[in-house]
Amino acid sequence: MSLPGPLLNLRLSVDYSNRPGVLRHAALQIERSEIIGLMGESGSGKSTLALAILKLLRYRGGSATGEIHFKGRDLMRLSEREMRQVRGREIALVLQSPMSALNPALKIGTQLSEAWRAHGGPPRNGCVSRLLDLLKSVSLPAEESFLRRYPQELSVGQAQRLLITMAILHGPALLVADEPTSALDVITQSEILQLFARLNRELNMAILFISHDLLSTASLCRRIAILHRGEIIEFGKTEQVFRNPVHAYTRRLIEALPKNPFL
Ligand SMILES: Nc1ncnc2c1ncn2[C@@H]1O[C@H](COP(=O)(O)OP(=O)(O)OP(=O)(O)O)[C@@H](O)[C@H]1O
Ligand SMILES: [Mg+2]
Repeated sequence: MSLPGPLLNLRLSVDYSNRPGVLRHAALQIERSEIIGLMGESGSGKSTLALAILKLLRYRGGSATGEIHFKGRDLMRLSEREMRQVRGREIALVLQSPMSALNPALKIGTQLSEAWRAHGGPPRNGCVSRLLDLLKSVSLPAEESFLRRYPQELSVGQAQRLLITMAILHGPALLVADEPTSALDVITQSEILQLFARLNRELNMAILFISHDLLSTASLCRRIAILHRGEIIEFGKTEQVFRNPVHAYTRRLIEALPKNPFL
């Protein structure tokens, strides 16, 4: 059943124990199947917002108040047990440093099948053929010999593709990608951006693409939000934001670019 309204509609404030007000009534809506960009400078609160959506802040000593309406339910009201059903299955997360997110002691295939089982995928049979299909869809070698490799035998770009594979294993409705390209060289960055665009199209998966790079966010996303010192100060269609920024900070960001792609 498809419910009316956005896929995700949030309004959040976040405090860390020694640092209050890191997010202040930050509001964001994500429509079904859209790629939306969240851009902000270092320290503006981007990762805080990503972790808050998945209710993972307490591992960093943070606490959130507000609402996170996702598919008609307020995630803020769910228990930890209920959230475990949401993480990975309905909302998945991809982080910045692919190598540190993989276990160097385990073969790729083992890590993929653990991710498969952790969220209740059906047992073994079916798993390998589904994994090979997914590897193909992210342009990794779709071969069983690839599954026997260790993470250190991969390039950083391949490792990021692998983490994206893990994130999309269960066909989440929303993928939160927190600076997924900042550890990559420019060519690999642009390949990963194309991969996000394709996965969004082919899987109808909404993506919250978080970046401190305004131009790559603009090239990928139809709508963008600008986070500045814990507040969403600008939110709209990318072209509109570039042509008519509302906030002085956004104007400064755009003026600092070598070229405005919409003028
Ligand atoms: N565990 C923590 N305890 C206290 N303060 C924290 C904690 N984690 C983050 N902060 C502070 O909260 C603010 C937002 O941090 P956050 O990591 O969300 O920023 P960011 O926008 O993701 O930055 P970057 O682009 O560098 O990843 C920063 O000022 C940071 O110092
Ligand atoms: Mg961050």
